[in-house]
Amino acid sequence: MSKKVLITGGAGFVGSYLGLNLARIHPDWQIVALDNLKRRGSELNIPRLKQAGIEFIHGDIRNSEDLDHLQPDLILECSAEPSVMAGYTSPGYLLQTNLVGTINCLELARKTKADFIFLSTSRVYPISYLSDLKYLEGNTRFELAEDQSIVGASKYGIAENFPLDRARSLYGTTKLASELLIAEYADAYQIRTIVDRCGVLTGPWQMGKVDQGVFALWMANHYFNKALKYIGYGGTGKQVRDFLHIADLLDLIDLQIDRLEEFKGETFNVGGGISNTLSLLETTNLCQQITGKEIPITPVAQNRSGDVPIFITDSRKLELATGWSPKRDAQSTLEDIYQWIRQYEDQVRDIFS
Ligand SMILES: NC(=O)c1ccc[n+]([C@@H]2O[C@H](COP(=O)([O-])OP(=O)(O)OC[C@H]3O[C@@H](n4cnc5c(N)ncnc54)[C@H](O)[C@@H]3O)[C@@H](O)[C@H]2O)c1
Repeated sequence: MSKKVLITGGAGFVGSYLGLNLARIHPDWQIVALDNLKRRGSELNIPRLKQAGIEFIHGDIRNSEDLDHLQPDLILECSAEPSVMAGYTSPGYLLQTNLVGTINCLELARKTKADFIFLSTSRVYPISYLSDLKYLEGNTRFELAEDQSIVGASKYGIAENFPLDRARSLYGTTKLASELLIAEYADAYQIRTIVDRCGVLTGPWQMGKVDQGVFALWMANHYFNKALKYIGYGGTGKQVRDFLHIADLLDLIDLQIDRLEEFKGETFNVGGGISNTLSLLETTNLCQQITGKEIPITPVAQNRSGDVPIFITDSRKLELATGWSPKRDAQSTLEDIYQWIRQYEDQVRDIFS
């Protein structure tokens, strides 16, 4: 059935990938991408969106009047100031976009009765509890210990029932507050909603920077021969994240749209899980192997605000409920990023400078 889909943050990494590929899979859908182009590099996606028949609106979710005239059946809320660090330097924009902006999007959903899928984050989980996880130090990475004492933590990573009662960064808080509001709108106005708490997402067309999009940044700096830093935890580069290829996220979102009635009201942890994890050191090794280049990487012993040594998403609830599981591994994910940078070198060089 034809659908009118509004993707907020539609020129961003996630929004544009979902838009372009949903348009390909469902040629009869009318897709609108709304974005204020705050993120450097998002402007590169405008011609791509237009070429795929997607309407681009230069709009801002902080302003309800930019949304009021739209009539979507489904809202994919992919806009955000997605950097944890932003909350420690300039929280005003982050609060306005990630919280007030979500309220404006929910108001649109209330008025139009649109379904609502929200890109939340693993950063809703408190920093001090994550820092208290027991982990071991191996040759190239930190590893979660088998036995964890915090509820929701296990060798599989962090599950949805991990405690939520401590500070989590302003970024994480705007997302958790948005989740609470989403639950209220769903209840009060019978809106069908799904919340996806994503771990690190990556892939081609991610305009990686030091505070967001680390795997794309790592590959780009190898490609363009630029230095990097191992920041925190002694400067050894052993900090670990799971990652999810954006194509795996697309598979999931397409499935969730199709089965919204079944999954409405749910909150899921979404990530690559224990089989898709990398330390920075291991990422360096893969980048060297793929690009054939070696760049200087300086150790910085001191930790960054809000950072954690290890995060792995436990997506078993999601996998059990949906049958979905990630398909792309570390090698293919980093190769995809490499091929993208190689093909669009002239366009993306400035973004990574
Ligand atoms: N990339 C990740 O690793 C990751 C992980 C967890 C959650 N998320 C969430 O996924 C969503 C998409 O993130 P992303 O990686 O695509 O980030 P991104 O920065 O590439 O995309 C976000 C887009 O939102 C736009 N935007 C920012 N403020 C806006 C505003 N006020 N009005 C309209 N547009 C605005 C930006 O210009 C950008 O194009 C975000 O909600 C983010 O919090 C991302």
